[in-house]
Amino acid sequence: PASDPALVERARVAKERLGDRLFVLGHHYQRDEVIQFADVTGDSFKLAREAAARPGAEYIVFCGVHFMAESADILTADSQKVVLPDLAAGCSMADMATFDQVEECWEVLEDAGADRVVPITYMNSSADIKAFCGRNGGAVCTSSNAERALTWAFEQGQQVLFLPDQHLGRNTAVLELGLSLDDCVVYNPHRPNGGLTDEQLKNAKMILWQGHCSVHGRFSPAAVDEFRERIPGVNILVHPECRHEVVTKADFVGSTEYIIRTVREAPEGSAWAIGTELNLVKRLAGMFPGKSVSFLDKTVCFCSTMNRIDLPHLVWALESLADGKVVNQITVDPETTHWAKVALDRMLALP
Ligand code: 13P
Ligand code: SF4
Repeated sequence: PASDPALVERARVAKERLGDRLFVLGHHYQRDEVIQFADVTGDSFKLAREAAARPGAEYIVFCGVHFMAESADILTADSQKVVLPDLAAGCSMADMATFDQVEECWEVLEDAGADRVVPITYMNSSADIKAFCGRNGGAVCTSSNAERALTWAFEQGQQVLFLPDQHLGRNTAVLELGLSLDDCVVYNPHRPNGGLTDEQLKNAKMILWQGHCSVHGRFSPAAVDEFRERIPGVNILVHPECRHEVVTKADFVGSTEYIIRTVREAPEGSAWAIGTELNLVKRLAGMFPGKSVSFLDKTVCFCSTMNRIDLPHLVWALESLADGKVVNQITVDPETTHWAKVALDRMLALP
């Protein structure tokens, strides 16, 4: 079993053998059995910065999903090796925007007469989508800086193509920048012209890619109502990947790092219903026993790809590295790295 004490001991020993040559990053959605071995935990923004700030580590073991490991490879020196303990740990949202589809969309926009469009991609996207943004005057954003990234984008141009999460794009544009829902259109990559008229493509301020997170998409406005009825005074705290109808009903909205901070700073005895991945919500409930922390859904909803990184995979990766064998290395080619780094650096330079 994953919680086998023998595996815990093997991970500890392998880590000790690697010493300072190793740096382990863990996203907040990782299992507890894995997170206990992370040198740093964080949301995707914090982890990108941490990866960039460890030039001394020969191996970065990334306990998270594929696009995060790619970003770490882009932001670290050539000599540093980034390892993802299970290569099947992808992200279904990132997979919803392929490079060819985005190139086609760019042509569709050009043919429709849209000019001064700035492409912004959520961190949850492949390296070649980030590179596309870098090459075309755009940037990356995460859930902790989407507002600043969009403000920046509207200083550079008149329209934004937001990839691949329509919900983060819409929620940020409407709730943070004060745009209206009518300012946003959804581009469907599976339909001719994205399913939009040339007028819409030319005039919409926000062109939202039709992508979403299947984990956060499950939270419903009805669940918010039920919680409010059941627990008077409950605080509803959700991630901005949730649907707009859910986010508008919530009391607090923010990245995983923000969610943790908010619950940590809340008074003892307060009640929270949280709309984000279940590993994190369970961990918060354990960390703050004096506060009531519930999951904002009746069903169990882990991110299945985050969960692929389990203790056996971590032990295998660490022991292989300690034996001098680099496994599951994530590498991004130099051309993609160059342009993706341009987009990531624009994000890291945001005020
Ligand atoms: P953050 O880490 O930016 O909050 O994003 C959550 C997420 O879905 C990562 O895949
Ligand atoms: Fe992707 Fe959603 Fe999982 Fe995050 S929670 S890695 S966005 S599928």
